[in-house]
Amino acid sequence: MWSKALLFLTLATAVLGEEIAPQTIQLTSRMAPKRRSLKSRQLAPTTIPLADFFLGTDLQWFGNISVGTPPQPVSVVFDTGSVTLEFASTLCGAACNNQIKFDPTKSRTFVDGGRTSSITFSTGVGVDPVVGANYRLTLRTGRDVVSVGGLSAGTVDLSLVTDQTPKFAIDPFSGILGMGATAVNVFGGLVNQGLPSLFSMFLTPNAVGEAELTFGGIDSTKFQGPLTFASLPTTSGRTWELPSPQISVNGRTTTTLRQRRTVIFDSGTSNILFSTATTEAIYTLISPDIKPNPAEPGAYGIACNRINTLPAVIDIGFTAQNGQPFNLTIPSTELNVGPFANDPTLCQTLINAFDGLDLVGGSVLKHYYSVWDIGNRRMGFAPNGL
Ligand SMILES: *[C@@H]1O[C@H](CO)[C@@H](O)[C@H](O)[C@H]1NC(C)=O
Ligand SMILES: *[C@@H]1O[C@H](CO)[C@@H](O)[C@H](O)[C@H]1NC(C)=O
Repeated sequence: MWSKALLFLTLATAVLGEEIAPQTIQLTSRMAPKRRSLKSRQLAPTTIPLADFFLGTDLQWFGNISVGTPPQPVSVVFDTGSVTLEFASTLCGAACNNQIKFDPTKSRTFVDGGRTSSITFSTGVGVDPVVGANYRLTLRTGRDVVSVGGLSAGTVDLSLVTDQTPKFAIDPFSGILGMGATAVNVFGGLVNQGLPSLFSMFLTPNAVGEAELTFGGIDSTKFQGPLTFASLPTTSGRTWELPSPQISVNGRTTTTLRQRRTVIFDSGTSNILFSTATTEAIYTLISPDIKPNPAEPGAYGIACNRINTLPAVIDIGFTAQNGQPFNLTIPSTELNVGPFANDPTLCQTLINAFDGLDLVGGSVLKHYYSVWDIGNRRMGFAPNGL
């Protein structure tokens, strides 16, 4: 399932799992688009509500798009860790019965692309391993018109899910819409129609609700204080990532944690993935009793009756465009992901070891209003006060 945790393979060989999901709506003050020239018609920003896929912990946020003519509603995770669009279809039989299925035969604008493929996600739902081939989608290419929040993105490439492994059945949404750091696919279509090239996310804990995604603007009613912007590295391409000079835990750091790393921001992932060395350096500063769970490679845990008392404030340091340091702070309450399936007295901790990747998702983004500014190659953050 693209449900929870990881990113999916954005590019070539990487196997991250991706996922996402948002929803909500609202609209009020947004930053006015910069207008240089009125030559081209500008689309006004639009905001859609996001729902939280919650399973003991916040997993992903998803919302509705419309596909086809006449439009059919399709719910998708808005995934900053990928760049393509795929969702369940009537070509998928009983395996997709839990999802709302798009019916291509009922859309007069649908064009079959005829290519089939499959993708395997490195993911899991909630407390689950990060590895394994249990999450596989079989896909068939096509094209159709897509709109979001009342704005048309025109005709875009997409993939219909024609089969899926049973692990996906739990997903309360039908697919994934990639929102990587270049304006392609659906978001690219919106930009081509005149939408400012940025989007903003207000991902909230389940108890708070009112999560939302604004296309083309910023909803300044959702945060206090200024946004802090940081530039994407010039090599970032379609990946939302920022260099981080250091990580601190409860105000302390170590040589390992002072090494510079590039942190990927993936709205489709709920947990955190760090290299094994980084993961263990962080856990050492929280409690020596946080140990790998051999039953779930990459996952760590500690007795459930101890986890909620552990101080575990994680400050991930970044550098703003003005040269000043700033932290994105993960509060101690995020440490507990919930009990493991194989041992309910053992609770999974937030960070999974995954060598070759440093990636954060919902557990960080939930505490900030985030601006994903493709046009200016930067990301902005402001505490959301939740
Ligand atoms: C998506 O649309 C369906 C059908 O209109 C609606 O019931 C559901 O609440 C919507 N979901 C979100 C996340 O907005
Ligand atoms: C970031 O967090 C570290 C560790 O808590 C702290 O020492 C540092 O002052 C913080 N930086 C900023 C700019 O707040």
